Amino acid sequence: MDVGVIGLGKMGLLHAAIFNRLDGCRVTALCDVNELMLKILRSGNDDVRTYTDFQIMLDENDLDIVVVATPVFLHGSMATTALKKGMHVLIEKPMAKTTEECSTIIGNANGSKSLVGYCRRFMPTYNSAKKLIEEEELGKVLSFRSHFYLSQVDKRMEGWQFDPYKGGGGALIDLGCHALDMVHYILGPMRSVSCRTERVISESVEDVARLELTLNSGVRGNLAVSWVESGYRLPEMMLEVTCEKGVARVAEKYLETVSNDGTVNKRFKQCFPDPIPFNIGGREYTAEDLHLVESIRDAQNTKCDIKVGSMPTSVIDSAYLSARDGQPQKVRYL
Ligand SMILES: NC(=O)c1ccc[n+]([C@@H]2O[C@H](COP(=O)([O-])OP(=O)(O)OC[C@H]3O[C@@H](n4cnc5c(N)ncnc54)[C@H](O)[C@@H]3O)[C@@H](O)[C@H]2O)c1
Repeated sequence: MDVGVIGLGKMGLLHAAIFNRLDGCRVTALCDVNELMLKILRSGNDDVRTYTDFQIMLDENDLDIVVVATPVFLHGSMATTALKKGMHVLIEKPMAKTTEECSTIIGNANGSKSLVGYCRRFMPTYNSAKKLIEEEELGKVLSFRSHFYLSQVDKRMEGWQFDPYKGGGGALIDLGCHALDMVHYILGPMRSVSCRTERVISESVEDVARLELTLNSGVRGNLAVSWVESGYRLPEMMLEVTCEKGVARVAEKYLETVSNDGTVNKRFKQCFPDPIPFNIGGREYTAEDLHLVESIRDAQNTKCDIKVGSMPTSVIDSAYLSARDGQPQKVRYL
């Protein structure tokens, strides 16, 4: 399969490296507005064609897969153009700035396969937690709490993540979308959200968000998101689910259960089977890209296609509305 990558920053380079190593795939076209980056990439590979305009790249190349790894405000136009041409897409998270933009992308899908880059769906700790909850090993779910913490911002920062037009918001959309996706994945869709946001350091976007969530099932829980949290040089996305017979706590590195009788069972990520063929920047990214390729080959939907991948964005739209008007808001999915 011929793969094109748009946006050659951290995530685009990672996906390009992975697709180049996957059996039957090769990266044949690259696009970035940064000419220097293109020059460097060309010097390592004579066969790859490089572009500064994504539209020209998509017009001139009959690509099977297009990776959209640009700042969020560009995802909509880039993904829509690729889908209109019948190409399959991997869109980095969050899928788009708003539900409306997600709706335009979905409206142009025409049977192409799609995957939104919620990479934690490919980590064994979260997948084991999902199985445990679905099989009711600890009984029925009563409540949950979750956080996504990172010590990323300690001074006013530059970059698209801190520009509400380009990023769509601050910590909530950038980090919180992962946590909201995980709540959907493990516990199901949400009925309503209330949200408070706080600017601690940044001038134009929130550094902290606190959400109260009610699921369709009636289960209630909360989510705290912060990129100014001390002690989290590496990100941690933790979900704690309280059930009738105990508590399950899951993060990137571990899955822990504590039964009501006090029995503790903690398994670190190294304890889980690892079928992923190679590791470039995190095994979950290889698993993710491989999943898209296999879904295309098997004509199956991916486990986070653009319909599913739009769900966190719908919750975030309602959360920002709630933060502005101080009222709980209904979640309106596509
Ligand atoms: N799944 C994850 O774990 C994860 C982690 C980090 C970022 N992301 C997501 O990946 C996406 C990219 O983030 P990043 O950290 O790689 O950003 P980045 O800033 O490192 O890279 C973005 C790249 O896009 C390029 N670009 C900007 N405008 C462009 C245009 N018009 N045409 C072509 N290229 C253009 C920039 O020059 C830059 O090289 C975002 O959606 C982000 O939220 C996902």
